[in-house]
Amino acid sequence: VAPRVRRILVWAGIALVAIQLPPVWRWQRNPPVVREPVWNAPGTRELAKAACFDCHSNETVWPLYARIAPVSWLVTRDVVAGRERLNFSAIGAATKGKRVTAAEVAEAIREGDMPPLMYRWMHPAARLSAASRQALLRGLELSLPQGNANREGDEP
Ligand code: HEC
Repeated sequence: VAPRVRRILVWAGIALVAIQLPPVWRWQRNPPVVREPVWNAPGTRELAKAACFDCHSNETVWPLYARIAPVSWLVTRDVVAGRERLNFSAIGAATKGKRVTAAEVAEAIREGDMPPLMYRWMHPAARLSAASRQALLRGLELSLPQGNANREGDEP
């Protein structure tokens, strides 16, 4: 290899190691499941698990690539921000951050905003068919508390 190329590779390697140093793993935790919604049917939970739980529950599956910077930064940010808005493992838990309403959940699914496109690329199981999307939408309408989807205020 030409010395110049070698130099570039060495520096790229050093950079790749250096960006692993910020302790992102501290946020890559799965706290205990506190309270799930009262699911109207097991199928609703299955669909939500396939399409939403990685970012909106405390049962996140952290693949190896999610542990390695810079991908880990993006994934971890999604999980932290996602749980703050809607957490299927802590329905009713009061946390900081603006919580979503059940109507917003339905809308996000209907419009195809959720799950996010990048996530669907990486997770074939989260690519819901039109029928599954409809089933999830209906199921969540029946499972989530109306108004604030996380039922603001009252601790579990
Ligand atoms: C890859 C992670 C990820 C997945 C999977 C995911 N979400 Fe989200 N979701 C987020 C993030 C991050 C936000 C917060 C958006 C922000 O603050 O930028 C969010 C926000 C939301 C919101 C608030 C409204 C909005 O658009 O900001 C709703 C509702 C929502 N998600 C529902 C769902 C549902 C329902 C599913 C499953 C069908 C799902 N999400 C799957 C990451 C995800």
